[in-house]
Amino acid sequence: MQAFINAMPKAELHLHIEGSLEPELLFALAQRNKIALPYPDVASLRKAYQFSRLQDFLDLYYQGMSVLQTEQDFYDLTRAYLQKIRAQNVLHTEIFFDPQGHTSRGLAFETVLNGISRALDEAQAQSGLTSGLILCFLRHLDADDAMRTLEQALPYKDRIIGVGLDSSELGHPPSKFSAVFARAREEGFHIVAHAGEEGPPEYVREALDDLQVERIDHGNRALEDAALTRRLADSAMPLTICPLSNLRLCVVGDLASHPIRQMLQQGLKATINSDDPAYFGGYMNENFSALADAVGLSREDLVLLSRNAFDAAFISGTRRAELHRAMDAFLAGM
Ligand code: ADE
Ligand code: ZN
Repeated sequence: MQAFINAMPKAELHLHIEGSLEPELLFALAQRNKIALPYPDVASLRKAYQFSRLQDFLDLYYQGMSVLQTEQDFYDLTRAYLQKIRAQNVLHTEIFFDPQGHTSRGLAFETVLNGISRALDEAQAQSGLTSGLILCFLRHLDADDAMRTLEQALPYKDRIIGVGLDSSELGHPPSKFSAVFARAREEGFHIVAHAGEEGPPEYVREALDDLQVERIDHGNRALEDAALTRRLADSAMPLTICPLSNLRLCVVGDLASHPIRQMLQQGLKATINSDDPAYFGGYMNENFSALADAVGLSREDLVLLSRNAFDAAFISGTRRAELHRAMDAFLAGM
């Protein structure tokens, strides 16, 4: 099964680029930028990656991203992620970035965007790996801050395919950002939002009704509400599920009790993603493998999960057909 997963063509739709910052690169950038870290070495930092809720992780995630200072740093970060996933047969990726996590530290929006997009362009030219960038608003900040961030992004519409919503979910419902997302829709951005990771089913409903999302990031807690689950299934709303993240942030008690099988049985359009691979212990293949082992997924399930991501990606019909053909060719060669 491991070999099948490794070789299977895949697309990633839920990846925070700042969450792909491995401790080794984090230390190297701290040294390059002369930033003191509260950990003596890589091993002790890794040891601190023990979380009992989303906020425990976010505290370290924001601390970690403070070593990112220059355009080159964002380029190096993105390049390292792209090299990892290219070796895992990921053919397309849609990447979240958190500009407010950087502009609040005095960096220019352009520094962040230019570094990331240079690495994306280079990867596409060198290996055909396609990508899109999704700007996420930090929901613990106020809606005015999000609106200003959206306005900063407007000159770069050609390099940003969509907007999303992340950070501390509880107490920050999607409806707090209705006006920002209305503006983003008017400007032609694709719309996604984290909802139902820690937050209640009502937050998923708000993401659908108030923000008019095209995908739900996570959405696990929607299963608590039968009518909402039916609505998600009937509308073929994609869910970007992140198994190792769910495990490490205690959204599930153990992977064996991950609800992915119920999701598929109930007709939900689930996809598999890594979220913050440097913090949660794995990239795409590790997420697929750990989940398949824990809940007993068949090859057909794995192919369906991967094809769901091809269907849910913000890409042209031509690219979508190419991804499905890559899967056809892979299966024909089995
Ligand atoms: N930011 C980075 N990863 C996140 C997650 N899993 N949930 C909310 N915000 C995040
Ligand atoms: Zn996420």
